[in-house]
Amino acid sequence: MTDTAMANPCETSPPNRLHPPPVRLPKLVQGVLFAVCRRSAMRNWIKRHGHIFEINVPFFGRSVVVSDPALVRSVCTASADQLINVQPNLSNWFGPGSMFGLDGSRHRDRRRLLAPAFHGQSLKNHERVIEDETLREGANWPVGKEFRILEPMNRITLNVILRTLFGADGAERDELEQLSEIVPPYMRLGQLMAFVPAPPFWARRQGPWRTMDEFRNAFDRIVFTLIDRADVDPNLGERTDILALLLRSGTSRSEICDELLTFIGAGHETTATALSWAFERLRRHPDVLAELVREVDEGGGAFRRATICEVLRVRPVIDVAGRRVSTPNFDLGDWRIPRDRTVLVRIADLHENPEIYPQPERFDPHRYRGTRPAAPAWLAFGGGGRRCIGADFAIAEMDVVLRTVLQNFQIHTDAAADEKSYFRGVAHSPKLGGRVTVSRRT
Ligand code: HEM
Repeated sequence: MTDTAMANPCETSPPNRLHPPPVRLPKLVQGVLFAVCRRSAMRNWIKRHGHIFEINVPFFGRSVVVSDPALVRSVCTASADQLINVQPNLSNWFGPGSMFGLDGSRHRDRRRLLAPAFHGQSLKNHERVIEDETLREGANWPVGKEFRILEPMNRITLNVILRTLFGADGAERDELEQLSEIVPPYMRLGQLMAFVPAPPFWARRQGPWRTMDEFRNAFDRIVFTLIDRADVDPNLGERTDILALLLRSGTSRSEICDELLTFIGAGHETTATALSWAFERLRRHPDVLAELVREVDEGGGAFRRATICEVLRVRPVIDVAGRRVSTPNFDLGDWRIPRDRTVLVRIADLHENPEIYPQPERFDPHRYRGTRPAAPAWLAFGGGGRRCIGADFAIAEMDVVLRTVLQNFQIHTDAAADEKSYFRGVAHSPKLGGRVTVSRRT
């Protein structure tokens, strides 16, 4: 950081405070690099400028990119008045009632209301559902023939999140089935459109905007039916699903729809993608796989959880967490960042920092044996007041899925080339969908 500071003479800021060095390329070029080959562009810019620099890209505008652990800590610990949510954010897609669209006390209250439902302990109630879903999917896996594991993982995590949101007793089966049909194509398109600014009203009547509106209308119709039914449910007071929590808190119907879409959108593909990366890594690491199988047979789980953390480190599904400065200035180490500037924390580059992780490219779950990874070194779920509310839930879910697969299937290993990362608009998934070959364990 000191090198970069010396390379950047103080411009207009007060003494001792510097502006981060800018990337000197046309905005459009920076935007294309950011959208199309973000990882390699970031690596090059870090090499050139160090772990803090400024880019200027469409949608986010002038944005300070940070991957120095001390600076990342300052971002994570900044108050909710200093750094608010980045603009644009996923509420573009999910709607203004989404947690992504809230700031200040409304954001805090919403998190307070919903956080307990996403603690790992609450997932205990769904453990059986996850096991059943995994076995149901596994029953269709071709034995001895390579297949993509991303889609089966998506179906498992979608069913789990739907039951968590709407109740697990199966009474809403028809509506949940309808949702599980429209959600996957909606998510595929939504990820691509999430950060594209909305066009004028007339332009929304065609192309992808029209399809997005149609998906949203279909989604709302089903969810409004479920809200109406929950509203007159004599057991509403005892229910622990998210719909019931939101309804009891007096949240408006349209906000409930936005929030339920948020949890479906943020909560299932991310987890499914992380699981696909886990299988992608295990296929290529027979020693880790053998240790996991030994552990599962002995009834343990510590190494499995360490493996999940390491998968999320080497292959983070979300590679950036964004904030926006809302005070006149935000001082970040030696740097001064003015109001309205975007701050982008580079999760992927932090996880690749050799000063934090010796041989960072090596997949080695032993790094986390007996320890819990924490911010700022490990940021798979972001950090601070906007840290992923579903982090414990996601880890617990991945744990049960992996355990069930390891108990019931043998994963074949070989020296296949690593799958490249493919950016789907929000998540980074294995380009070939996490191809694996399995056979049944007797
Ligand atoms: C492996 C799976 C997952 C990954 C890698 C992941 C990652 C992230 C990241 C990086 C953020 C941004 C944090 C920040 O800005 O500091 C986030 C936010 C969020 N995630 Fe997750 N997530 C996962 C699973 C889930 C699940 C299972 C749920 C819900 C059940 C969920 C719901 C959310 C929500 C609602 C937010 C917004 C929080 C806020 O703005 O206060 N995520 N997630």
